[in-house]
Amino acid sequence: MPIRGVINIPGDKSISHRALMLASLTDGDCVIHNISTAHDVESTRNCLGQCGIISSKENETVRISGGTYEAPKSPLDCGNSGTTVRLLIGLLSGKGIPAIFKGDESLSKRPMKRIIKPLRDFGVDIESKNNCLPIKITPRILTGITYTLPIASAQVKSSILLAGLGAAGETIVRENIKTRDHTELMLMELGAQIAINENIVVQSLQNPLNTFEMTIPGDPSSAAFFGAAAAMIPNSDITIKNILANKTRIGFFSVLEKMGAGIKLKNMHKECGELVGDIQIISRPINGIDITEEIVPSIIDELPIIAVLASQADSPTTVSGAKELRVKESDRINAVCVNLKNMGCEVIEKQDGFIINPINSLHHTNINTFGDHRIAMAFTIAGLLTNESNILDDEGCINISFPEFNKILDMLLQ
Ligand code: S3P
Repeated sequence: MPIRGVINIPGDKSISHRALMLASLTDGDCVIHNISTAHDVESTRNCLGQCGIISSKENETVRISGGTYEAPKSPLDCGNSGTTVRLLIGLLSGKGIPAIFKGDESLSKRPMKRIIKPLRDFGVDIESKNNCLPIKITPRILTGITYTLPIASAQVKSSILLAGLGAAGETIVRENIKTRDHTELMLMELGAQIAINENIVVQSLQNPLNTFEMTIPGDPSSAAFFGAAAAMIPNSDITIKNILANKTRIGFFSVLEKMGAGIKLKNMHKECGELVGDIQIISRPINGIDITEEIVPSIIDELPIIAVLASQADSPTTVSGAKELRVKESDRINAVCVNLKNMGCEVIEKQDGFIINPINSLHHTNINTFGDHRIAMAFTIAGLLTNESNILDDEGCINISFPEFNKILDMLLQ
């Protein structure tokens, strides 16, 4: 059944985390409209609350006052959210706030050495359990660092930039492959001294950031699930309004276009330093493509749904240079391969990616989500290609990033 219609998607999760954290560095009242409803973003808001940063939420509007931080009295529970823990550790280190960070079972297994190493270079005293959570930070006087990211990670980059705001002198970050740049764009917009060229150079923050009122653009990573469905299901045509169109985030729509789908970007404009617009996706026959390392950061969260899309192509798709997928909320290389194979697709699992040999008809099955929201949503969409829906072992995990997912999907299917 084709999907057609015009939809709005809740606010971008990455920008929502950053808007909350940067509001805490102002000395007044900020208003954030269309904030992401993701449970991950609530983890950030709750952690900030434990540090004395007061906020209130009504529907999708958060009012939050920056100002004085206090040391949290109990461990900060970051839930399932890598962005919460990695960015907040940097932020609190820079603010000189001692804290203990913990998370759920999945987050407690994820690698933290990637932030521990540079933060120690700044002078932060860090104790961890084998480079995983729980982590205790005892901040010291910090000195700015120069750091080349050994892995392409916006979370690591942002953690360093946030710590750099509280470090003496300047902090310089170099990236071999550009990752999402919301932290630097927003810092620039809010009056921090930051230069964004080949290197990102941030100076110690001398004055509070400017207070702000902003509307968060729609989340392109959430939009991707419906974009993929529209591309794959014959006679589909959807428009997704007010989507974040930052180049570091819309790699998925370029991939979709290269795979043959009809894509139109319309009404482009800037909001709070970020490009925003409407995206129309029209179904067309899909072809396979080769995805390599240099574009992986711009589609890192969309690779599970790209894998589903690839199963419907007329030629194989290869993904390489994506070993970061193994340390996400689940091992997404394995999760994608196991579930696609169970649906009847021929898939070859590689250490840093996969090869997908398309199949005309997938069959419905029981999905192991591994508690991972993006796997759950990707295989709900895959279920649209079969004569009965897939059965997920855990639907609740979708709330981690996109509580409205099923409601919007039902609307499109009507
Ligand atoms: C994010 C960065 C990415 C992404 C995650 C959100 C961010 O993680 O996968 O969902 O908001 O900075 P990495 O930086 O670990 O690649």
